[in-house]
Amino acid sequence: MKNIMFIAPPAAGKGTQAKKVAESYGIPHISSGDVLREMSQEDSELGHSIAEKLATGKFIEDNILYQLIENRLKREDCKNGYILDGFPRNLSQAIEYDKILNSLGYEVGTVILIHINEETLEKRITGRRTCESCHAIYNIHEENNSPKVESICDNCGGKLYQRTDDNVDSFKNRLKAYKESTEPIIQYYREKNVLHEINGEDTVDNVFKQVKTILDNEN
Ligand code: AP5
Ligand code: MG
Repeated sequence: MKNIMFIAPPAAGKGTQAKKVAESYGIPHISSGDVLREMSQEDSELGHSIAEKLATGKFIEDNILYQLIENRLKREDCKNGYILDGFPRNLSQAIEYDKILNSLGYEVGTVILIHINEETLEKRITGRRTCESCHAIYNIHEENNSPKVESICDNCGGKLYQRTDDNVDSFKNRLKAYKESTEPIIQYYREKNVLHEINGEDTVDNVFKQVKTILDNEN
């Protein structure tokens, strides 16, 4: 299976779709945000500095990401493909990612850009709840997507929490960072002829149908 990467603004549905892809195709889901949120729990200088940046919606330093991604991609379970969500996030990261791929003998694979309106994003941000154990994603404003029991994960019984960056101020910073730093990588992948575009303004299942059509054609 080709490797997969999602590019999309905050709260567009990268994590939601990546989890469905991982489940359907039996490949690991690598979310840079999930790994950083775990690192932010550590009682160390690094942990505290990551926590502070996450809460305000600032990017974490590129070098931390390179180490994190390279170590993760070296693991055995990535050999048959993986889905990357949240990395690369700027042009330097995209260029470094190519070097990492080269060193591992991997290819970038399929890149999927999710198009979505800003008003939708803001609504999704405030309703999101995340499982602190398995990272499952819910939305308390969406009937089809709310947990069965309030604050408890349907999957694993873990506790649901609201991310420190799921507020309007932090969201504005994240969206600005996306436009300034992440959008330029769209052209980078378009020029490589690996970019596919989908519409994120639909139900989770209908968005997944679009993803599946692309992946089934590519593999
Ligand atoms: P990250 O965790 O990647 O956050 P993000 O990019 O802001 O994206 P989100 O996780 O907020 O949204 P999503 O697209 O995954 O949407 P979701 O599926 O949850 O990164 C967090 C932070 O880490 C960054 O701000 C940065 O500080 C740092 N970081 C990470 N990677 C980095 C890097 N490479 N370099 C530097 N720093 C980095 O869905 C959102 C909500 O909508 C949910 O409630 C969901 O249930 C709902 N929903 C999803 N799809 C639908 C649908 N189709 N219909 C209705 N509701 C839906
Ligand atoms: Mg996410």
